[in-house]
Amino acid sequence: MESQSIGYMDRPVPEGTDLRVEIDKLRKEKNAIILAHYYQTGEIQDIADFVGDSLALAQWAAKTEADIIVLCGVHFMGETAKILCPDKKVLVPDLNAGCSLADSCPAPAFAEFVAQHPGYTVISYVNTTAAVKAVTDVVVTSTNAKQIVDSFPADEKIIFGPDRNLGNYINSITGRNMLLWDGACHVHEKFSLEKILELKVQYPEAEVITHPECKRPIIEVSDFVGSTAALIKHTMLSDKKQFIVATESGVIHDMRKKSPDKEFIPAPPNDSTCACNECEFMRLNTMEKLYNCLKYESPEILVDPEIQKKAVLPIKRMLELSEL
Ligand code: 13P
Ligand code: SF4
Repeated sequence: MESQSIGYMDRPVPEGTDLRVEIDKLRKEKNAIILAHYYQTGEIQDIADFVGDSLALAQWAAKTEADIIVLCGVHFMGETAKILCPDKKVLVPDLNAGCSLADSCPAPAFAEFVAQHPGYTVISYVNTTAAVKAVTDVVVTSTNAKQIVDSFPADEKIIFGPDRNLGNYINSITGRNMLLWDGACHVHEKFSLEKILELKVQYPEAEVITHPECKRPIIEVSDFVGSTAALIKHTMLSDKKQFIVATESGVIHDMRKKSPDKEFIPAPPNDSTCACNECEFMRLNTMEKLYNCLKYESPEILVDPEIQKKAVLPIKRMLELSEL
């Protein structure tokens, strides 16, 4: 991550500041757009101009005419926006908001792995650093991974990184045998199968809906598997009234807004007494930091221009393939 100062981030906000009003004023004054991921807190989702999954955030960044993009999500999401819009200022409320999955794939080791497998097409999940994207042929998100893998001939030799769980799931639904990087998300890996099975007994009518970053045993007991956007859509379309939700619990905010008559039960992790599973990186962003970030136009995401030129190609390829 950048070495720039992150000192403005934690500045105390003057007492009595109406954060909603001031954030709104600053966004208009500065022609800024606020993009938020579904794992952000409810108040950040509610004030954002747009809330979406990783694909939708990239699509919005690619088409916005705003001068400033504030990405309320994690670092790789801000980086993807900056790679797509190198001439815009891209801000994140907290520069420490990383991603364990992106961290599980250091660029030098991944580049070496790719070099050891000549003739392979490299497909990388968007949860990667710019330097990993720079050695990638096409980026995918959990919304379009199947569609993009399916677009290659059946005998294409493919490296898929970094998420072994998503890679295994895509292999299972496409009949491929992609070579997988051994990375994972610490949040999605810690859902408890035992607790989910207990919830299924407690709520026999509920559907279990799951993000594909979860481990295989969780996927196997699920009624529906998909990206955050796909899970939300499923809850709106399904006849069922109760859902056990196996992904970061922030997504339930939008599910409740879209289906107020339905019940959403967060699937619990295996390591605590807490009922829901939160990504501590996503939760670093707060309304105070969002206000400071707009006010001081910091912290800013910066990407090395040489890496940007290479990394933009597989992201643009993904955006083109997603339109098909
Ligand atoms: P989505 O693209 O499904 O929103 O997933 C992003 C993510 O970080 C999941 O952990
Ligand atoms: Fe990364 Fe996992 Fe957090 Fe998603 S939930 S941002 S994959 S650490």
